[in-house]
Amino acid sequence: MSQQNPLPTIAILGAGNLGRSIIAGLIKSGYPADKLWATAKHDPRLQKYKKDFHIHITTDNHHAAQFADVIIFAVKPTVLIDVVKEVQDIISKRKPLIISVAAGVQIESIARAALVDVPIIRAMPNTPTQLRLGAIGLCANAIVKEGDCNTAESIFDTIGVTCWVKQEELMDVVTALSGCGPAYFFLLMEALQQAAEEFGLPEEAARLLTLQTAVGAAQMALESEHSPSQLRQHVTSPGGTTEKALSVLEKHNFSALMKEALEAAIERAKEMANKY
Ligand SMILES: NC(=O)c1ccc[n+]([C@@H]2O[C@H](COP(=O)([O-])OP(=O)(O)OC[C@H]3O[C@@H](n4cnc5c(N)ncnc54)[C@H](OP(=O)(O)O)[C@@H]3O)[C@@H](O)[C@H]2O)c1
Repeated sequence: MSQQNPLPTIAILGAGNLGRSIIAGLIKSGYPADKLWATAKHDPRLQKYKKDFHIHITTDNHHAAQFADVIIFAVKPTVLIDVVKEVQDIISKRKPLIISVAAGVQIESIARAALVDVPIIRAMPNTPTQLRLGAIGLCANAIVKEGDCNTAESIFDTIGVTCWVKQEELMDVVTALSGCGPAYFFLLMEALQQAAEEFGLPEEAARLLTLQTAVGAAQMALESEHSPSQLRQHVTSPGGTTEKALSVLEKHNFSALMKEALEAAIERAKEMANKY
């Protein structure tokens, strides 16, 4: 995290799987442990955080929030609003930067529970944050200032790359793309490995070649000045094997199929958002 002075105290309320990734990312990037608070419902999980990261822990959200300049709500969407209400008086008093990672819960719902005008940032991370390789969409309400954006970016940069969207409805697209995205790539890897095995490759060879090809292709696309489309054309010789394989995917409308998959996820994200 970039050095700001003084560094904000961050309370992560509901530090489960994602919360742990955030804590680990911050600590690895040198964030002072005494500026971090974590809460959870059950104490054993928290004791592990204390042992691993030497941060402050408590099962009392209210206690942790009272020290916070930034409150990260990392509980499940179903309990988010209750937890916001639980610390509402502290939000009123301290006016911290609020960050929610709860999938599908709109900024407006959080603002309504907070009862006061506070800066609220909604983040949509994905599971590779566990390896600090996450892709994180961010969206802010009108009160959020540049300094708050920098703070949020500094936090999430420790577990991946960040990308802002201006209109909140685009968070549904972020959810469908990078939130659900690891599963699409896992499915592709699964299908490729299985096909290679059916054509005779031993399981371990099929697995390793599939996974390393995925990593290599992603790294090439990230580092290249060319678009994925151009890179695809570069590796597709006319009349060659790749062209033959791609023609099968095109015949079955691979791009249209991916669009349909994203559309289904976007629709589902909208339906879920209406619940909160
Ligand atoms: N995991 C991801 O990669 C990912 C990606 C995108 C968005 N998200 C969002 O991140 C949030 C957390 O997901 P997760 O996978 O980390 O879930 P999780 O592992 O179940 O973590 C939720 C945590 O909340 C704690 N908790 C429950 N009720 C609480 C309360 N009243 N006060 C304080 N803490 C409470 C639980 O404590 P105990 O452990 O003691 O039960 C648990 O540690 C969700 O809203 C999800 O939509 C996660």
